[in-house]
Amino acid sequence: MATHRDGNLAERTDDTSLELTAPPSRPRPHLYVASADKTDDDSMLGQFIPIHYHYQMLTQEPRIGGFEEAIGELVKPGMKVVELGAGTGVMSFFAARAGAAKVWAVERIPHVAKAARRFLAKNGVGDRVEVVNEDAMDFLPPEPVDVVICEMLHTALVREKQLAVIASFKERYLAKFGGPLPRFIPEACVLAVQPVMTDFDFHGYEASVPMFVDGSGNGRVQKLAVPALYAVFEYSQEYPTHFAVDHSATIETTGTLNALRFITKNLLAILEEEQRSIDWDMHDLVVPLATPLQVSAGDVVRIRFRYDAGDSLLALAESIDGDDE
Ligand SMILES: C[S@@+](CC[C@H](N)C(=O)[O-])C[C@H]1O[C@@H](n2cnc3c(N)ncnc32)[C@H](O)[C@@H]1O
Repeated sequence: MATHRDGNLAERTDDTSLELTAPPSRPRPHLYVASADKTDDDSMLGQFIPIHYHYQMLTQEPRIGGFEEAIGELVKPGMKVVELGAGTGVMSFFAARAGAAKVWAVERIPHVAKAARRFLAKNGVGDRVEVVNEDAMDFLPPEPVDVVICEMLHTALVREKQLAVIASFKERYLAKFGGPLPRFIPEACVLAVQPVMTDFDFHGYEASVPMFVDGSGNGRVQKLAVPALYAVFEYSQEYPTHFAVDHSATIETTGTLNALRFITKNLLAILEEEQRSIDWDMHDLVVPLATPLQVSAGDVVRIRFRYDAGDSLLALAESIDGDDE
């Protein structure tokens, strides 16, 4: 990455840009297969979420509250629903509570599926929610459904397999039942990236680790330019599974560009009649750059990165690249 300002490159050195370049021959992990060396690949993480991580998810208010409202709006009495990646079954419970006649709740991890079965029964909807202990990549309901809920989401759509799982479901569903497709919750997704200056100091210890921060940046992140959209899509339509970004950002605030902030907004339900959407803004992912860059207002910074949905965070970080415009 390098900058230019009014055509003056005097204080820029080529060294700065080259430090950020990923090895060009690094093999790209396949969309649904982790690298052979699992010790250095975090892409499996989102696919194995044991029961002791679900407390965090159950108490993440913007997430659970958003899904509760979206499911309450879109699931009508008598509807048939599928949930892919059901975890504790809480979203399936919301669907049953909204009046769904039947919900198939698909969870791959046996002990989580067993817990979901127990919780759903305890919450009085065990007769209408069937927990299926299967891989969502293979599951199809026995009959057409009205709504599909899927929350295998991670900021920037790395790690978890939301896009692969829904694409596979759509293809197999259409082959078996024909159209129309069910309505998806979430309905759409917006991805953006922003150059930032981040404080990586921890009690006097400098460690530029990837961070998950809220919209305020947890007091550590200063925005240097406006966010740039790099993907906007609806789950009911064809969507990209590979993101290749080459963006020129105009710096608005002088500082040290030492990280990129990845922003992910999930439109859980788009309510046309009410002219509003129910959204879940995920925590932002702040990815440190290998070599920080001094930038001034007016500089133009070229940002390049590329990754597949479901890739490891490491693959995204290593793909960040740039050079003079
Ligand atoms: C982010 S959690 C969401 C759980 C639940 N839907 C909720 O909102 O609380 C994703 C869940 O999907 C499950 N999962 C991931 N990949 C899966 C797959 N291929 N098939 C079935 N379940 C999967 C995980 O074990 C985890 O329980």
